[in-house]
Amino acid sequence: DASVRLAVIPGDGIGREVTDEALKVLAAATDGEVKFETERYDLGAERYLATGEVLPDSVLEEIRGHDAILLGAVGGKPGDPNLPPGILERGLLLRLRFELDHYVNLRPSRIYPGVVSPLRDPGEVDFVVVREGTEGPYTGNGGALRVGTPAEVATEVSVNTAFGVERVVRDAFARALKRPRRKLTLVHKTNVLVNAGAVWSRLVREVGEEFPDVSVDYLHIDAATIFMTTDPARFDVIVTDNLFGDIITDLAAAITGGIGLAASGNVNPDRTAPSMFEPVHGSAPDIAGQQKADPTAAILSASLMLDHLGHDAAAKRIEDAVLADLAARSSGAARRTPEVGDAIAARVAG
Ligand code: NAD
Ligand code: IPM
Ligand code: MN
Repeated sequence: DASVRLAVIPGDGIGREVTDEALKVLAAATDGEVKFETERYDLGAERYLATGEVLPDSVLEEIRGHDAILLGAVGGKPGDPNLPPGILERGLLLRLRFELDHYVNLRPSRIYPGVVSPLRDPGEVDFVVVREGTEGPYTGNGGALRVGTPAEVATEVSVNTAFGVERVVRDAFARALKRPRRKLTLVHKTNVLVNAGAVWSRLVREVGEEFPDVSVDYLHIDAATIFMTTDPARFDVIVTDNLFGDIITDLAAAITGGIGLAASGNVNPDRTAPSMFEPVHGSAPDIAGQQKADPTAAILSASLMLDHLGHDAAAKRIEDAVLADLAARSSGAARRTPEVGDAIAARVAG
């Protein structure tokens, strides 16, 4: 058997519930083919509230020694005065993405057969968002002055390096070249964010010269949200910055059947550190603990992980099982989280 050292970070809320199901399906799909040496890391709100620890350096280094990371979601109860916003998001999730150089945040969107889109006539929707994962307004490059006074000034300055933009743009072009439609859409706001916009536009133009078979298109982020709802079938590969990519992928999830289906990979294409796979959704405190969450996004994230690790056949088995489950769903009653996981695991096992 191939052996994979897997770090699992279930996190908080429904993160734990959906991760259990993803591991269940992963085991069923790889039985006899891949042996997982799984290490669980209890990071998240509970650990922080009990110990003040978010991601100790020693834990980060241990995680770095794995082949891949599967993450549920992090985030505590809204409004908890002991857990200010950003502590876990920045200190845990973003720190992992930055430290492990996850510069390609891969977020595929498809309307699978049988899945009901809120759009009346969406057409054939099958695109992937390549969201930059290590720069933009996410880097913590900002601050606040005269806090709490009428003269307060707060900044979050977007960082866009030629190095960082070029590598994600090149990755997006390479992905576009492998897809039947070979189309790349840059999404930005070059009419207002003129400095960052110029870097993105220039590098798309320059790198695009190496990919003459890929057609290139540009949309401002605001207009992109229009087309995402009126004509999502026009998209093939979207490349965009960290914040625009965050927003557009929740919209993409909504139009393709809901956030419970949206999977993602935080990929380090150079493989200098483990990549991390997680559903696009968060810890959903509003439904946590009720086994109501749809684990499909987490399960599909496990499929993306297998694909990344070179276990394409097992990855495909999971995707096929999810497709079959989705196609059978419309008729049935609402199922609890483990029932969905059991059903998909049973289909994977044949
Ligand atoms: P959210 O994605 O957690 O929830 C938004 C809505 O979608 C909620 O109504 C929720 O019930 C629903 N939902 C989400 N996942 C679902 C699923 N699998 N099945 C069914 N319904 C689902 O976003 P939010 O409410 O903005 O954030 C909650 C917390 O999660 C915050 O602390 C936020 O920072 C954090 N967060 C973490 C991640 C992550 O760890 N990757 C991602 C997004 C948000
Ligand atoms: C996501 C989340 C994160 C992001 C937050 C929780 C830091 O919304 O994975 O989409 O903005 O990237
Ligand atoms: Mn998001």
